[in-house]
Amino acid sequence: MILRTIPSSGERLPAIGLGTYRAFDAGGDRATQERLQTVLRTFTTHGGRLIDSSPMYGRAEASVGEVHAALGLRDKLFLATKVWTSGRDEGIRQMQASLRSMRTDVMDLMQIHNLVDWRTHTATIEQWRQQGKVRYIGITHYHAGAHADLARLLDTGKYDFVQLNYSIAEREAETGVLPRAQAKGVAVIVNRPFAQNGLFARVRGKALPGCAAELGCQSWAQFFLRYILSHPAVTCVIPATGNPAHALDCCEAALEPLPDDAVRRRMARHFDQL
Ligand SMILES: NC(=O)c1ccc[n+]([C@@H]2O[C@H](COP(=O)([O-])OP(=O)(O)OC[C@H]3O[C@@H](n4cnc5c(N)ncnc54)[C@H](OP(=O)(O)O)[C@@H]3O)[C@@H](O)[C@H]2O)c1
Repeated sequence: MILRTIPSSGERLPAIGLGTYRAFDAGGDRATQERLQTVLRTFTTHGGRLIDSSPMYGRAEASVGEVHAALGLRDKLFLATKVWTSGRDEGIRQMQASLRSMRTDVMDLMQIHNLVDWRTHTATIEQWRQQGKVRYIGITHYHAGAHADLARLLDTGKYDFVQLNYSIAEREAETGVLPRAQAKGVAVIVNRPFAQNGLFARVRGKALPGCAAELGCQSWAQFFLRYILSHPAVTCVIPATGNPAHALDCCEAALEPLPDDAVRRRMARHFDQL
């Protein structure tokens, strides 16, 4: 799998991660556990490391913890979650609960979800980082209306990561946050790479274009992921899936060759005309 560098540390990260919204918000019954274990085993076997969750996603943090503990995979993972509440004490309580749910003493990445009470949580997470409870600090959002706020916060130099929505259907980040993150040396995690199934609805029943074969894309998911991965600012894309076959499909998207600028333009033009 293609690796990308976290600018603030030089650490290398595999370019495909795993989102957990809905996909891991599942019961602890045996069939579900086995299915999610197969997802995680497939993901790590094919080189994946970063898993992104949030206390907003129901049981997802707990499911991640249960599944990696059952498989003994903690050391192979880069665990990311978020704080999504207001107030210092409530933020601390929520982050402590996340560590317990995700069964880890150290959270690799703690992000401020949708910038909720970001001033308060930035100060707390910086302290946690000094105490060794968190390795990296980040901010997130999921729609373009917040990109200007994300970009402004990148200028403070306080954040290692920014997580935002970017896909072949939602390309606003290309003219704002992505170049800013690159200039400021901030790692980028891309959420909603399929606009939460919206992209699949748009291409249902439609054949892949010719340039997909040139790039070795076997599926529309790989076509969409390669478009994102070929932006130089992108560190890791986090498609969510609870389906082992989809996990494999996504992991196999992070292989060379990636499209160059001319092919990217053709991909976007083709998509716009669908
Ligand atoms: N504000 C924030 O911080 C924020 C906001 C939004 C999202 N996020 C993060 O980003 C992650 C991804 O975003 P998202 O969950 O909104 O949507 P998404 O990843 O764009 O789409 C998820 C959907 O794609 C399907 N899928 C995944 N791989 C597929 C494949 N290879 N072929 C066909 N279908 C496939 C999944 O279904 P199956 O389960 O059936 O595969 C699921 O329904 C979230 O899970 C979350 O971790 C963060």
